[in-house]
Amino acid sequence: MTEQSGQSPALDNLSTESRAFPPSAEFAAQANASAQWYADADADRDAFWTKQAERLTWASKWSKVVDWDDAPFAKWFVGGQLNVAYNCVDRHVEAGLGDRVAINWVGEPGDSVTITYADLQRNVSKAANALAELGLDAGDRVAIQMPMLPEAIYSMLACARLGLVHSVVFGGFSPTALRSRIDDAQARLLITSDGQYRRGKPAPMKESTDEATAETPSIEHVLVVRRTGAEIPWTEGRDLWWHDVVDKQPETHTPEAFDAEHPLFILYTSGTTGKPKGILHSSGGYLTQAAYTHNAVFDLKPETDVYWCTADIGWITGHTYIVYGPLANGATQVVYEGTPNTPHEGRHFEIIQQHGVTIYYTAPTLIRTFMKWGEQIPAGYDLSSLRLLGSVGEPINPEAWIWYRKHIGGDRIPIVDTWWQTETGAIMISPLPGVTEAKPGSAQRPLPGITAAIVDEAGKQVRAGGGGYLVLTQPWPSMLRGIWGDEERFRETYWSRFADEGFYFAGDGAKYDADGDIWLLGRIDDVMNVSGHRISTTEVESALVSHPTVAEAAVVGATDATTGQGIVAFVILRNRPEGTPEAAVSELRDHVAKEIGPIAKPRQILVVTELPKTRSGKIMRRLLRDIAENREIGDTTTLADSAVMNLITEGLSNKP
Ligand code: WT7
Repeated sequence: MTEQSGQSPALDNLSTESRAFPPSAEFAAQANASAQWYADADADRDAFWTKQAERLTWASKWSKVVDWDDAPFAKWFVGGQLNVAYNCVDRHVEAGLGDRVAINWVGEPGDSVTITYADLQRNVSKAANALAELGLDAGDRVAIQMPMLPEAIYSMLACARLGLVHSVVFGGFSPTALRSRIDDAQARLLITSDGQYRRGKPAPMKESTDEATAETPSIEHVLVVRRTGAEIPWTEGRDLWWHDVVDKQPETHTPEAFDAEHPLFILYTSGTTGKPKGILHSSGGYLTQAAYTHNAVFDLKPETDVYWCTADIGWITGHTYIVYGPLANGATQVVYEGTPNTPHEGRHFEIIQQHGVTIYYTAPTLIRTFMKWGEQIPAGYDLSSLRLLGSVGEPINPEAWIWYRKHIGGDRIPIVDTWWQTETGAIMISPLPGVTEAKPGSAQRPLPGITAAIVDEAGKQVRAGGGGYLVLTQPWPSMLRGIWGDEERFRETYWSRFADEGFYFAGDGAKYDADGDIWLLGRIDDVMNVSGHRISTTEVESALVSHPTVAEAAVVGATDATTGQGIVAFVILRNRPEGTPEAAVSELRDHVAKEIGPIAKPRQILVVTELPKTRSGKIMRRLLRDIAENREIGDTTTLADSAVMNLITEGLSNKP
């Protein structure tokens, strides 16, 4: 914890935005959601969530909607049984929709695959038969590190079908990061690929997963999908080709029903300490809220919409809004393998035009990148198929919101700014399209069935116009069921701050406007948000000090026009490095990429001789942030040594 943690979130950047965009009469007339839902859910929450759970097909019904007696461990749809993969795949085929396209898969080099629900059923069944043949049993963990290939989705659904718990690790994470996640979950199997296409070139993958699995005794097999055809290292007996093991399997597989609380997946996310948390999600409640929110927030019409979420399956957005929500709802979607500027900066718009995408869900960092590339790029494509836009991952600044609406949405379609977290499993706060008058930059209101509040230090709700901490006041179906193997940390991180009130502490600062709408203000803990990716300052600091030349390091998230926040590190070196200071800094950046992954590479590393500390030895990141953001330095009265800031700034300005 640093010195500024625990203080009220910075409220000095309260938005003065006052534009509002009411839904068009045309959109409102056809909207899935209705204003009545708020009242219905308030009047009878259990009845409301019962109705949402009935979107799914259950093998046996529950006896109780929610059991909160063992709080903070919730049970939803107690005693109910279902198979998650059956709900995402088979039931659509049984309903006669086998020919409907589930996934229009677009490879980065230009190859493509059309996957119908019937194809999906065959492919998932084959994969499930293969995993069963490898001896995996319900409850076992399976790690997946793969690019955005159809097989990644087959793998997740095959796990769900067998009751195996998947742990997907983003492809950009380093071998060290993968190894610690495999060890923490004691995964028996790793599914990966030979390589991946990235920015127009094949890039290796198996080499790095091999580095990770060199010391992971729990891994029995590595199942490898062929993507690039590159020559790869091979460990006989342990490594198996996907095509050897899966292709020969029977195309049918009978799914077994599991308890609503059967674990579905673990997904690691950064916390305030160096060690990532394995966020645990379970089956019935998670799928219920995934299906409900995907239908209501994106106004999905499965017969006619073409939906596209640009996230990677390595993040929660990919889990809930590429795999589980859309497929549970029988949607047709685009899945794209690559980067948005390969082979040119119009790639996304070209895909929207070519596939007639109607719903597009992306992150503010990409919208700001599109702004930088220029509005002439989207203007060169026919984007008239679009009818709804979504945003997720960080607060969207009003300029970006307006640009998104104008240059991608043709100034005519709704935007939903969706607030949620890995821990919440699904969208919690968002406008309802066709219902809500949208305000650029505000996520606005908890969804029907969700209860959130902004409270002060004492846990008391603040008044309209006031700011404080965002909390969730009642359990929700897709809430995390714990941190894998660490009950204490689960209680401490989320439930101790407002223990008396029993509120879930989200870690975000927020304010109400005069209408009571919610504006998110960013994290109030030591977690940075870089391009919508959560990275903890401590994690980057530990990576830096693990390098032999670094004596001490402090990391802050500084405002960045494109990525939201950029990582700025201050380091004290042990001894004068041999080469130039530039070479030392560049080596440190590469070291962080190696330890955590390229997404954690600091934007800037500043070599200093001192760090500002309080008398109790806590680093005052607030003052470092002032330097990183080129501001006048704030109050230094709690510094142990008041001369330190001068030493630091002089040292930096003396640099050539
Ligand atoms: C943190 C959660 C939810 C999927 C992607 C990120 C920030 C997320 C918004 C939004 C303002 C947002 C919060 C949150 N965040 N969406 N619409 N407006 N902030 O998931 O990695 O678990 O990060 O992302 O700070 O706590 P995550």
